[in-house]
Amino acid sequence: MVNVAILGHGTIGSGVYKVINDNNSHVSRRAGDDIKVKYVLDLRDFPGDPVEDILVHDFDTILNDDEVDIVVEAMGGVEPAHTYAMQALLAGKSVCTSNKEVVAKYGYELIQIAKENNCNFFFEASVGGGIPIIRPLMGCITADHIKSISGILNGTTNYILTKMSEEGLAFDDVLKDAQNKGYAERNPEADIEGYDACRKIAILASLAYERQVNFEDIYTEGITKITCEDFWYANQLHSSIKLLGLAKRQNGVVYSMVAPFVVNQDNPLYGVSDVFNAILLDGDMLGEVMFYGKGAGSLPTASAVVSDVISAVKNRGRNIPILWRPEKRELGPVDAFEMPYLVRVSGTDIEKEIKDVFGDVQFLQGQNGETAFVTGPMSGADYEKAASNFEVVNRIRIF
Ligand code: HSE
Repeated sequence: MVNVAILGHGTIGSGVYKVINDNNSHVSRRAGDDIKVKYVLDLRDFPGDPVEDILVHDFDTILNDDEVDIVVEAMGGVEPAHTYAMQALLAGKSVCTSNKEVVAKYGYELIQIAKENNCNFFFEASVGGGIPIIRPLMGCITADHIKSISGILNGTTNYILTKMSEEGLAFDDVLKDAQNKGYAERNPEADIEGYDACRKIAILASLAYERQVNFEDIYTEGITKITCEDFWYANQLHSSIKLLGLAKRQNGVVYSMVAPFVVNQDNPLYGVSDVFNAILLDGDMLGEVMFYGKGAGSLPTASAVVSDVISAVKNRGRNIPILWRPEKRELGPVDAFEMPYLVRVSGTDIEKEIKDVFGDVQFLQGQNGETAFVTGPMSGADYEKAASNFEVVNRIRIF
């Protein structure tokens, strides 16, 4: 018998409880031992809920119970989730988490503590929700150097951008609709400003490039400045606009950023709509491979957490090494990243001035007294210098 304690009875925690119970015989058979949820930790009470009898309010009950082998951390936020995870690992209990904030900030530290205590710290659900990406990256695509990772890593923003694109709605209206449907938080900042995607690409980059990528070092731009008009121009390029998390290795230097990009219909990420996520990896031997599915939600995310629980059971008393060294990886300057831009500037009959400054560009059909064009690949620094000659309405990088 393996006893599991679940920290948090919110969206993910309650999903984990349901998956372990509803699929119990299957999950136990896969794990090779009977799995039981012994405790659920939450500050709240849940009268009438099936967890009522196993609900505890004090983490020490779990920590001091030698019968608890595995702790599922589904609390969200950095503290006390990080401290509880650390204490559980120090006590030799494996920890499985969906918490990207904790993994991005303390992943390497918790991996090290797990190693020293002969247990495991697993975090499949921290990126891409139910999509298997961490284990494939660590255990399957190991023969390759990863040339790049490009991901739609946030369901909320992908839903908003899809609605804006398909229904011609304004950002604020779609955000309200997403909040009403429960796809966006009441405080949507972490999603719409790209902070959530930033933590997820930091985790993927740390694993792919084997050293700590600090999320604070990643240039991050959200989607709040994207308008319906931007989609009208992108449409002329047979493209849409997606919030992408990127990490790329070029000449030994790793670059990473989060920003909205114009994505052409030929790219596999173009067709990833609504709340779905996708991660496109490019390996030097494998070429491109894409992982697609539900990046959020109770049961998809819980499915990934419980697969970690099964793995933790199968590997009791044995640490599975994870290559994520604590030394910080210095990122290349984002200004050096060369890419084309879709640019909208105020004014008409200014094609000559634009060409004089930006060189050879492709003009699009303009509207509302604007001129729109696509530049050739240029660095961020060169773009800023050229753009300072014009009144820019908006500019979006082209993927
Ligand atoms: N708010 C996140 C999203 C939840 O929309 O993708 C999953 O991390």
